[in-house]
Amino acid sequence: MPAADGVDRAGPAEGAGYGHVPVLARRALDLFTPAVAPDGAGRVYVDATLGLGGHSELMLRAFPELTVVGLDRDTHAIAAATARLAPFGDRFMAVHTRYDGMAEALDSLGLPAAHAVLFDLGVSSMQLDQTDRGFAYSVDAPLDMRMDPTDPLTAADILNTYEARDLARVLRTYGEEKFASKIAAAVVRERARAPFTTSRRLVELLYATIPAPARRTGGHPAKRTFQALRIEVNRELASLEAAVPQALDLLAPDGRIVFMSYQSLEDRIVKTALAERTRSRTPVGLPMDLPGTGPTFALLTRGAERATEAEIEDNPRAAPARLRAAQRLPDPAQNPIDRSDA
Ligand SMILES: C[S@@+](CC[C@H](N)C(=O)[O-])C[C@H]1O[C@@H](n2cnc3c(N)ncnc32)[C@H](O)[C@@H]1O
Repeated sequence: MPAADGVDRAGPAEGAGYGHVPVLARRALDLFTPAVAPDGAGRVYVDATLGLGGHSELMLRAFPELTVVGLDRDTHAIAAATARLAPFGDRFMAVHTRYDGMAEALDSLGLPAAHAVLFDLGVSSMQLDQTDRGFAYSVDAPLDMRMDPTDPLTAADILNTYEARDLARVLRTYGEEKFASKIAAAVVRERARAPFTTSRRLVELLYATIPAPARRTGGHPAKRTFQALRIEVNRELASLEAAVPQALDLLAPDGRIVFMSYQSLEDRIVKTALAERTRSRTPVGLPMDLPGTGPTFALLTRGAERATEAEIEDNPRAAPARLRAAQRLPDPAQNPIDRSDA
């Protein structure tokens, strides 16, 4: 439906034929609009986590001249989104890469900068639904969990080869699992009998190892271990730590970036990187930022925004989402920031 500014912004229900509603879609669209309006002509939107292409489709519809580049490390996601977005012709380009390959991907397409970038982190509904990939603990499946099926390391490799103390570290750090050492010891004991291959045996071990009172209050006993293994298999945090500064550097002046995180470790990386760019490095007490020391970004969100109850009802995946957004400031050399009120 055309909005007051004449832009036809399809609502989140578009793409419902693909069986999922993109998370915080309306909010992301509104945040990106000033960076690509009125129609996206000459503007580049990078979807760093293409998935099924839900967010990308909304942008392609809302801004009929916008160029969209979709990145994903998952070849299944690239294939599905490419088929879905084929009607948009050469306005959409997909690149199979991790998001920390963003600069190289844009360079290979002859694009020097981005005007809008989205990171919708974590695992996609398609990855969870493809049960043979081992992301879901609710079905017995091979312990794989690779987002990129061409990567070498699987969850089974970790369970069968890591030393107990390394396994415990992974479970504690990436799963925030209180019983990490106990679980690691049980895995090492069990794998001496036979290596782990599918998820049911691991889930049964977790039921047997996590004490009953903790099982009653701490959510599904496999949730934290599966999250930890997935993060380790895919080296998710290292990739994000490398990608965030790269994406910030690729944004054109006035360009905007939106992050949706689903667990505290991801959100902390985003928050820290944004804090670094939005603070002044001019010594306290000076009325103006010294050249080259002022903030290069401004936050567009106050803290981390959460989905509304209505949205969570519509799309339960939105429940843990934390959204942060920022805008690149114009070149400070041309526009020094007056801090006399600071
Ligand atoms: C939550 S889904 C994105 C869903 C998408 N916004 C949509 O509307 O369909 C996250 C996607 O990011 C991808 N991904 C995760 N880590 C990645 C990385 N380091 N580099 C590139 N893609 C990654 C996953 O393979 C998955 O397809």
